[in-house]
Amino acid sequence: MSWKKRTVTCGALRESDEGKKVILNGWVASRRDLGGLYFIDMRDRYGITQVVIEPEFTPELSEKAKEIKSEFVLWVEGTVRKRSNPNPNIPTGLVELVVTDYGVINQSKLPPFEISDSVDISEEIKLKYRYLDLRRPKMQKYLITRNKLSQIMHRYFEQNDFVEIETPVLMKSTPEGARDFLVPSRINKGKFYALPQSPQIYKQILMMSGYDRYVQIVKCFRDEDLRADRQPEFTQIDIEMSFVDQNDIMSLIEGFINQVWKEILDMSIPESFHRMTYNEAMTRFGSDKPDLRFDMEIVTLNEIVKDAEFKVFSDTLAEGGVIAAINAKGCASYSRKQIDNLTDYAKKYGAKGLAWMKFEANGEVKSPIAKFLKEEEIEAIKQAMNAEEGDLILISSDAWTRCYTIQGALRLEVARQSGIMDSVRGKYAFSWVVDFPLLEHDEESGRYIAMHHPFTQPKEEHVELMETAPEKVNAIAYDLVINGAEVGGGSLRIHDSNVQAKMFKLLGMSDESAREKFGFLLDALQYGAPPHGGVALGMDRLVMTLTGTENIRDVIAFPKTTSGLSLMDGAPSYVDEAQLTELALNLIKKEIEDDKE
Ligand code: AMO
Ligand code: AMP
Repeated sequence: MSWKKRTVTCGALRESDEGKKVILNGWVASRRDLGGLYFIDMRDRYGITQVVIEPEFTPELSEKAKEIKSEFVLWVEGTVRKRSNPNPNIPTGLVELVVTDYGVINQSKLPPFEISDSVDISEEIKLKYRYLDLRRPKMQKYLITRNKLSQIMHRYFEQNDFVEIETPVLMKSTPEGARDFLVPSRINKGKFYALPQSPQIYKQILMMSGYDRYVQIVKCFRDEDLRADRQPEFTQIDIEMSFVDQNDIMSLIEGFINQVWKEILDMSIPESFHRMTYNEAMTRFGSDKPDLRFDMEIVTLNEIVKDAEFKVFSDTLAEGGVIAAINAKGCASYSRKQIDNLTDYAKKYGAKGLAWMKFEANGEVKSPIAKFLKEEEIEAIKQAMNAEEGDLILISSDAWTRCYTIQGALRLEVARQSGIMDSVRGKYAFSWVVDFPLLEHDEESGRYIAMHHPFTQPKEEHVELMETAPEKVNAIAYDLVINGAEVGGGSLRIHDSNVQAKMFKLLGMSDESAREKFGFLLDALQYGAPPHGGVALGMDRLVMTLTGTENIRDVIAFPKTTSGLSLMDGAPSYVDEAQLTELALNLIKKEIEDDKE
């Protein structure tokens, strides 16, 4: 062997090791040359250790050390000694290694960016050179936290009698929620597999097979528009249980999250989480994933403004809509431009306008709608909003869902702008949102779609409404929300094949189409299906919450960009004609050309 193997890692040495002879292997994080006196920071995934080459002590090494550059891989042998200028910021900061011998194991080209946590470089470059980006201590911490979570998960569910079972990655295409990723079959030409959007049907079938507690860490694939918290392939901690009710599933997850927070963050959190209905979450926080770390609750003003002579309000009320507002505390000083920006922001969520009311320090009320309101109405709004001098009230008037959604979005935006978001960093607010509607009406297709998925059980007392008033049916479905992020979702499932058939019909599927797509499930339901339900936690989102990053790419070793590209290896890519022929595929050349433009 041309190099010497490490005896300790770069994160190991402490004051108590003084005088020891050790060997380190690692990368050169930085190198300072003070006229032949070299200070080199050696890095590996365990930490950073300062090594010193001293010209008076080892003149020949000092002469040779000119060759050492950033990101070279070295072996270094030396003696541990106390540092004269300790660095309290790193665990090894009290000591350094005085080099007695070293060698270059491998050289490195000049990296396109400095490998450090403070690097400020475009995401594209970092993703292209992901192998270098992943050397950064922060990135390593993210992936190591992810690994810890995965270990806790295996342990927790094993202790609770769960069986880990793998489900197929090549499955039947049953597009229901997002678009499927398809894989052409060579042996069965013209046919396709789909990659699973989740193992939903398989895990339900496993319940019918008697594996009453199933868990799996599983890759899911969804061909949907990507955002900061969405990847086309992502990981779920997927769970299904038989002979349980909603509370059993929730308390199992609460126990898991408690264990995770304890082991990873060394924090005790509430044993059971706050629960609120979908309706409450929407009307108080304008979102089905409310951030409960701060208040700024939405107030519905319908009663107060019902007689106001403002056409926008009276039209909304006549159509059964809502007038609702938030109090942006202390924001009466916002300029015209700032308010215009908030209005534009609201418009992204479908607002037609944004009414506002400033309670100024001198007692004056400024508002573009003041002229439409009586003094008592303004006073009543002030009361209802708990407004004081210096506050800014932002009012929306719109259809129910849209009005609250706009207000919810404004609530978060005002919290970001006014520093509330910064002030709650490090806090955690856990909650369950329950009693979701079973269906939502899709304007585009003019039909109902399942709010969670088509296998979710309607509330028993609502089953009858499925035919008469489907929009009123609630589901036994629940989402786990942490700090305003949907970290998990689940439901009890339909275990009666007639109810399942009814549900498919409600979703606009003909009997034939339901049989063609889900015949196997309808069949399986007829051979003794136990009552069952489950939940899936978004593992990537959970790691994001635990590490505090807002970018899902940080917690995935090899992620895709928002346009679905893997910049390092260049996926997706064109394939040979021969490969296509083998699969009996013909590309529509024109569409590809158009797409390139
Ligand atoms: P659902 O579709 O709600 O439920 O997904 C469960 C959780 O997975 C995470 N998630 C994602 N994370 C990253 N990128 C994405 N594109 C993405 N999509 C979803 C979210 C979400 O809460 N089979 C059901 C679960 C069940 O009913 O048991 C399901 O997949 O954190
Ligand atoms: P107008 O009289 O139409 O100019 O509107 C007066 C104020 O009402 C302006 O500040 C508008 O932005 C606001 N406004 C208009 N439509 C709505 C709406 N749907 N919700 C809230 N405010 C609105």
